[in-house]
Formats: sequence, structure tokens, C-alpha cells
Amino acid sequence: MAKAKIAVLISGRGSNMAALLYAAKADDCPFELVLVAADSPDAPGLTLAAAEGVPVIGFPKPTAKDKSQFFEALDLRIRESGATYVALAGFMRILPASFVSGWDGRMLNIHPSLLPKYKGLDTHQRAIDAGDSHAGCSVHIVTAELDDGPVLAQTPVAILPGDSADSLAARILIAEHQLYSRTLAAFVTREQQPEWMLNRVREIALALPQADEVISHGMPCFGIEKGKKFAWFTRDHHGDGVVALLVKTTAPDEQATLIEADPDRYYRPAYFGTDWVGIRLDRGANDWNHIGDRLRASWRQVAPKKLLGLMDIAEDF
Ligand code: GAR
Repeated sequence: MAKAKIAVLISGRGSNMAALLYAAKADDCPFELVLVAADSPDAPGLTLAAAEGVPVIGFPKPTAKDKSQFFEALDLRIRESGATYVALAGFMRILPASFVSGWDGRMLNIHPSLLPKYKGLDTHQRAIDAGDSHAGCSVHIVTAELDDGPVLAQTPVAILPGDSADSLAARILIAEHQLYSRTLAAFVTREQQPEWMLNRVREIALALPQADEVISHGMPCFGIEKGKKFAWFTRDHHGDGVVALLVKTTAPDEQATLIEADPDRYYRPAYFGTDWVGIRLDRGANDWNHIGDRLRASWRQVAPKKLLGLMDIAEDF
């Protein structure tokens, strides 16, 4: 499977970036760093990344006035690098909503607290002052709100008697270095997990009018309530090792045409006849827009006329 391409954004030392960089050197690591970018040309982490052969860019420090141009230029450079995910690693800038939305669900951040506690700065001192038994670190998906997106993983770190903010920060940093690479690896491979794929299919299918889900022949199956089926999710059925979505075709020769055009992805599902096609989901790089279109088209093949009319009206709006 191809490795996920990561752009890492830093503002300074870059020790979390280094942890990701060295984790990525393992053959079985599912990600690689394709860019390290900083909001200052002097960020020390850039020197290390460059020495390790990762393309780097240090932008001139943006002022309040040129903040939006800075984020536009940054976004462009990330996209040019081929990155499909962004990892913030001590990138100390408030991100504009336009930048965040361009990486919706594909940008992670590491934060030195057990979120939702202590968003923002001075996290270590605040945990000590509060008398907490543990501080820690969190990796979360970035949303427009500061340090607020869904938390993917956390490591609690015990606060010791006499700890200063610095001594605690140093110990939390060790935990950060472990947590970030592990969480990023799980995150970039989650789309290859059958359970994730089934949830994605479920989300799209059950958003269709009067759709329901049942188990049929041991497979999750989507249909119109008390009506016909329009999709089956097959996962290692009879031990065949295949993860695929079966949908109805929309024209008489479509099954053959699809299989001829892309025999690696499409196949004729056994026992389903010629008006169904199997779409392999275990080949990587799934195009979920296309899969969504296929599911909707399949639903249309079996939906009663009245429901189709309602759908047409809804789509016109
Ligand atoms: C890390 O402790 C990271 O969690 C924190 O900055 C430090 C960067 O160190 N990030 C934040 O506070 C973001 N809100 P590093 O440059 O050595 O990775």
C-alpha cells in the first residue's frame, strides 16, 4: 500500500516533527514526510529536516496584515508537495477557518494537555496550579475552534511533587513523541479498515430516503424499508478475503463495461446476475464521491416511483 504523504508544520524546535520523521523511516510505517514548513526561516527544526532529506520551506514571519497571504501561500506549497494530510507539530499560529476547511478531517495537532482541559498556552503550569494528579498530551483533529476538534488519543503523564512547568513539559514531550507517530499511523490507515468502510457506506446509504439496514446472508445489506435491496457490503464472505460493495448497475451492459475498464476494481458478484456490480474497497485510494454516486444511482434503480419523484424535487432545491 502506498504511504500517506504528510506535510508537517512547525514554529520552532521541531522535536515532534523529528519524532514523526524517524518513525517514518521504518519500512512498515504507513506515512512519509513530504514537506516540513515553518512560519519563520530560522525555525531550528528546518535544519534537521533538510539534513534528513525532507523538502523544507521557512516562510518569512507573517505580520497581522499579511496573515491571509501567508496561509494562502502555505496552502499552495502543501498541495504542491503532494501531501494528503497535515500534521501540526508545535505550529503556534491561530489558523483561519478557510485554511482549516481546505484540510477538513485531514489535519491533526498535538497539544500538551489532556484536552478538553487547558486549551491554549501555559498548559503545564495550569495543570500544576490546579493540583491535578496527571497532565498529559492529546492528538486531535483540527477544527476552526482552537484546540477543540475530536480527540483521537491521549497519554496521561503523572505530575511529580516539586514539578516545575519545565520539568513536567520535558516528561510530557517524551509522551508526545510516542503518541503522535502512533496516532498518525492509525489515522492514515483507518480508511483501509473494513469497519471504517462499512461505516462510510452506512452513512451514505442511510441518508437516502426510506433506506434501512438489515443483515442478509451474513452481510450488512441496505434496502428501501419493506422494499428492494440496493447495496450489500461484503467482507471476507466465505473466507474470500474480499472487501467490496455490491450495487445495482444502471444500464444493461454497464457491468461488462465497468469490469473491462477497471478489472482490478470491478467484478461480477457470484449469484447476483448481470445487473449488479462489485466494487472492491480493499484496493486502496477509494474515491468516496464516486462510491456515493453509485450508491445513490443504485437506490434509484429500486426506489418506488413516488419516492423518486420526491427525491427529484429535493435535488432541484
Ligand atoms: C510541543 O509540546 C507541542 O505539544 C506544543 O508545542 C511544543 C512544540 O515542541 N504545541 C502546542 O502547544 C500547540 N497548542 P516541538 O517543536 O519540539 O515539537
